[in-house]
Amino acid sequence: MAIWNLGSINADMVYALPHLPVAGETLAARRLDRFLGGKGANMSVAAVRAGSEVNHIGAVGPDGAWAVERLKDYGTGIRDIAQVDIPTGHAIIAVEPEGENQIILFLGANRALTQDQLDQALSQANAGDILVMQNETNMQAEAARAGRDHGMRVCYAAAPFDADAVQAVLPFLDFLILNEVEAGQLKEASGKSPDELGIKDVIITLGAKGARHIDGETGAVLNVPALPVTPVDTTGAGDTFTGYVLSGLDQGLPLSEAMPLAAKAAALMVARHGTADVIPELKEVQAARF
Ligand code: RIB
Repeated sequence: MAIWNLGSINADMVYALPHLPVAGETLAARRLDRFLGGKGANMSVAAVRAGSEVNHIGAVGPDGAWAVERLKDYGTGIRDIAQVDIPTGHAIIAVEPEGENQIILFLGANRALTQDQLDQALSQANAGDILVMQNETNMQAEAARAGRDHGMRVCYAAAPFDADAVQAVLPFLDFLILNEVEAGQLKEASGKSPDELGIKDVIITLGAKGARHIDGETGAVLNVPALPVTPVDTTGAGDTFTGYVLSGLDQGLPLSEAMPLAAKAAALMVARHGTADVIPELKEVQAARF
């Protein structure tokens, strides 16, 4: 089986700051690092490092060859990444000493995917493959519908959260991942709690409290604790968790095994600076003790 990721590709400019800026404040950064990022690229790299075959469907601008090259070097399939005439997406990420962040996104080329590109990519997918999307590209609902029509397992990581975007893909989903606050916002918008959405698998991430899986068919709940770690930079930890969970599903692991492994990967990620480039390999995750 394989994972197909309709996902963003960003240049992450990460600024280490003494605190997160407030309105009107000018702040000097202590350090600037540039990483490969984007929730999509982060999930692709995480799933590859967890052992899956991943095909990334996305777009970069004329300035994005380095990002595609890096995804390729990391083992991600890049055949379905288009080059368009719009600048590559980027993120300006402020990180304070306790690891909390603020992110400004320029989505650029990530919003320039076409129906033809999507059709061409998904024509190579097999029934039972996983299709994952986040909310940083266009073509989400089109992809979700096509994925369902191809017999794929359609997954959605609802980040950055937008209730309308989630509701547009809801009818096609097998798997939804979102955080506690977003689950509340979705309930307000749709009138339904996670177990009433008609989705087979819902994971609610709970930050320092871990994550909860709700089986939409039986109502069974599985709680997985977060691991104790001193945060350095929380950016990309959620994407790492999602990529590892999806890879576990792809490799036939039950969620009772995939989620604890993903929680370990996310904990390692929280303890390091950066995004896609520093996502831990499976061996590191398996060897880590907390
Ligand atoms: O989730 C972290 C990601 O959000 C960063 O890599 C940034 O590019 C934004 O997409």
